[in-house]
Amino acid sequence: MDEDEAVTHDMKDQTYILGLGHYVPEPVLTNAELEKMVETSDEWIRSRTGIVERRMVEEGQGCSDLALQAALKALAQAEVDPAEVSHILVATFTPDFCTPTTACVLQAKLGADSCSMAMDLAAGCSGFTYGLTTARGLCAVEPESKVLVIGSEVCTSRVNFQDRNTCVLFGDGAGAALISGQGKDHPRLIDTRLMADGAQGHLLPVGREGGSAAPYKLGQVVSQNYFIQMNGRELFRFAVRGMADLAEQLLAKHGLTVADVDMIIPHQANMRIIEALAKKLSCSMDKVYVNVDRFGNTSAASVIIALSEAFDHGRVVKGMRVVLISFGAGLTWGAALMEL
Ligand code: UT7
Repeated sequence: MDEDEAVTHDMKDQTYILGLGHYVPEPVLTNAELEKMVETSDEWIRSRTGIVERRMVEEGQGCSDLALQAALKALAQAEVDPAEVSHILVATFTPDFCTPTTACVLQAKLGADSCSMAMDLAAGCSGFTYGLTTARGLCAVEPESKVLVIGSEVCTSRVNFQDRNTCVLFGDGAGAALISGQGKDHPRLIDTRLMADGAQGHLLPVGREGGSAAPYKLGQVVSQNYFIQMNGRELFRFAVRGMADLAEQLLAKHGLTVADVDMIIPHQANMRIIEALAKKLSCSMDKVYVNVDRFGNTSAASVIIALSEAFDHGRVVKGMRVVLISFGAGLTWGAALMEL
């Protein structure tokens, strides 16, 4: 590669975060309310998960409605008009419909008429880091792109409120980032790294019935197999090891260690997983962002809600080095390194 090619490659590889936004629906679902639905207790939920409350959509509020609010905030922060958006990626396992995709529904709601590509992306709770990686690719091809990457979930639409193993864990919300190959005064997305292990997919299935593998017939009653099912104990092990290894690999590629990072933003599935991850990374909890107590597990929206909130609350500021780490169904996991 000669010098000119090297410069071109380097320029193409730059990705910037022009704006961030998040939105959670107003209704709060408390542990006390869950106590009335299943045999559980506030004490069990707090001690085993760290979750105190989560948000749940109002009737009629779908995935695209949450995505819209988050997207508008990200665009406002970036001072970019919806008409300038070139691509929309919505990471979700709870789309409004099978088709049209939530991204297309959102395009219409936003009035993003010049958008050339709108698609949903399914990677479970890792959807946002998968989306960021896809956006990096789009920006490498067309640096002038303005890609809305969104994680939006109405997890409660796929929660079986008779299953205490899962119904206490999940909440609804959305987060958005506007990504571009241009904008050198903005936070920089340095690199991402993803993993998948389909052989372990059975640990966290959603919709074992109702998809093409086991379609519902007209009038058939929905069973528990339509909802989230989870082998929590096994997942716990995979989650901690997977997230820690991936973050360390990503940092090592850039000659960095966790000591060089100002804030770790992990997937907000469970406080005990977050603490175990911090311990495995030899990282003080002061450098780990936590909001699982207030929002529970919002799946693909989890890390981007946390990043946007950390930014709004001044917990992360310009110049800081931040790592997002996600983990979820698939299994999938992903990490993103950025400099604000
Ligand atoms: O977002 C994707 C990634 N998600 C994850 O990685 C989740 C990972 N796993 C976890 O967060 C935890 O495993 C859970 C929070 C899901 C469960 O915590 P645990 O400490 O692993 O509990 P367990 O599954 O080992 O269950 C312990 C006991 C069981 O009773 P027995 O069999 O010991 O009698 C459960 O039936 O706790 C019982 N239990 C509950 N009790 C009261 C399970 N859920 C509840 C509940 N309330 N909600």
